[in-house]
Amino acid sequence: MTRQAIVAANWKMNGSLSLVKEMISGLKQVELASNVKVVVCPSFPYLAAYSNESTKQNLSNKFCLGAQNMSEQQNGAYTGEVSSEMLSELSVNYVILGHSERRSLYQETSNLIALKVAKALEDNLTPILCIGESEQERTAEKTEAVLASQIQPVIDEIGIEKFTEVVIAYEPVWAIGTGKTASPEMAQETHAFIRQYLANESDIVAQKVPLLYGGSVNEGNCEQLFAQTDIDGGLIGGASLKVEEFSVICSTA
Ligand code: G3P
Repeated sequence: MTRQAIVAANWKMNGSLSLVKEMISGLKQVELASNVKVVVCPSFPYLAAYSNESTKQNLSNKFCLGAQNMSEQQNGAYTGEVSSEMLSELSVNYVILGHSERRSLYQETSNLIALKVAKALEDNLTPILCIGESEQERTAEKTEAVLASQIQPVIDEIGIEKFTEVVIAYEPVWAIGTGKTASPEMAQETHAFIRQYLANESDIVAQKVPLLYGGSVNEGNCEQLFAQTDIDGGLIGGASLKVEEFSVICSTA
């Protein structure tokens, strides 16, 4: 079946107002395949600028806006937090949740991430749920157990049927920002495991969920990665800050 292909840019705590403008002008020139969507996820302070600029420049709905995190709470007394209601108001359509940096640096647990996924769906945001194992876990052959432990709380929270509204990004922690990409075969094998894990609950749902690969994706390796049966696009970090390189990655998908 043809699944939605997605290339998402995770700017992390990088970028600037000028990059917002440059990126939009650059992406405007990109020819996308008909089933590809591009989602740019800048930091919170740039969301409004990105949203305004892309409306001004009349970018089609193939170019969407995403946030990098959100609170699991409703609006209220939570200093420093950002809610899904606020994101929806800014025409944000996607939100990255459970990135390994959130899990390791900010102690976000899989249970908390499951609550965030549920809240995002409630406010019509598409969660990009990140999962992935550390190098130690892979060496100890715990990859599948780790991935299962990251997915299961979300299934328990929202139910398998709701996964048709979720995107999963598999990002092996050892490949993030290291230049050590998983080989296409290794990535495919892990993506196939993730799809099978979902299929154990519902094959119909599993076939619909876009599975993105993330971890040192660049213009040189994206083609082979995207060619794998169960890889439906990528979540791009460093290379998404370079307009030309990111444009190449988008047009390759
Ligand atoms: O979310 C994207 C990510 O963590 C991968 O980063 O810099 O290795 O592409 P990078």
